[in-house]
Amino acid sequence: MTTAPSGSTTPTDWTDMTSTDAPTTERPAAAAPQDASAREIDVRVDRASGRYLPEVPTPVIECTDVDIFYGQFRAVHGVSLVYGKNEITAMIGPSGCGKSTVLRSLNRMNDLITGARVTGKITYHGQDIYGSDVDPIEVRRRIGMVFQKPNPFPKSIYDNIAYGPRVTGMKVSSMDDLVEESLRGAALWDEVKDKLKQSAYGLSGGQQQRLCIARTIAVRPEVILMDEPCSSLDPIATARIEDLMEDLRKDFTIIIVTHNMQQAARVADRTAFFTAKAAEGTGDRTGQLVEYDLTSKIFSNPADRRTEDYISGRFG
Ligand SMILES: Nc1ncnc2c1ncn2[C@@H]1O[C@H](COP(=O)(O)OP(=O)(O)O)[C@@H](O)[C@H]1O
Ligand SMILES: [Mg+2]
Repeated sequence: MTTAPSGSTTPTDWTDMTSTDAPTTERPAAAAPQDASAREIDVRVDRASGRYLPEVPTPVIECTDVDIFYGQFRAVHGVSLVYGKNEITAMIGPSGCGKSTVLRSLNRMNDLITGARVTGKITYHGQDIYGSDVDPIEVRRRIGMVFQKPNPFPKSIYDNIAYGPRVTGMKVSSMDDLVEESLRGAALWDEVKDKLKQSAYGLSGGQQQRLCIARTIAVRPEVILMDEPCSSLDPIATARIEDLMEDLRKDFTIIIVTHNMQQAARVADRTAFFTAKAAEGTGDRTGQLVEYDLTSKIFSNPADRRTEDYISGRFG
């Protein structure tokens, strides 16, 4: 890939999310991770399964004992997970086990759902993303998201890309260059360079999804969350997105939810397997992390019987 985010607008300090204007290396005291309660929890152990988590060389996002509620309903319980820099981490598991819920909690997208609530701790470079002084808009700029169904804006191809940089007030020396760089980064430039002013709706589904990826990288995030990004695409368009992910991981950290196990096996460095368990009393099915490891290990020699049953197609 030719389009490593570069140039003067690239933020180099990922540690502070309180302001886009004045990056600082000083962390606000309230969000510092060194408080006593954080130290009591061993992030290397998943509370639900009691298992040790694999070492991740350079953690970017860390979830510690995370529960996620919709109103009274606890959709996810006791998840601890570490997502590594420039890695592709896949989250797999049967429908309803909380994969999208966990994914949305990583960039505070759940804030937009009435009644959604997160407990436990989610940090980004050590900073609590739910800290009172953290700007959720800034969290979502650094941790971008691509959805299941391509959702381009009803605008031109060019304006789809330029929109994010414009509304976030990004200082851009040449918008044309940024649009080109983003489209090249999403492996779409050659297909659209002669029709940048045409509506994004004229593109095929696979092209629209790559446009959405280009739109996401235009604001130069560090992390890209993808929620079943290929579920509406044909196999050829899917293969193009998978190839693109492999290119993108050089510059970005990717976290993908997929119900396609082969996809996880093909693209992901590490895989987290979730399942939903009926809670005692209420019968509500609550999502839990069963096992998290290198993808090769999950698919060849899983530690948990439930993982083995799932990957061998015995349930789910
Ligand atoms: N916006 C919401 N409001 C209430 N419940 C929700 C909402 N989104 C998801 N849920 C519930 O949370 C659980 C986990 O859902 P989800 O994260 O979408 O699972 P998955 O992505 O693994 O299929 C399910 O029981 C689902 O019905
Ligand atoms: Mg989902």
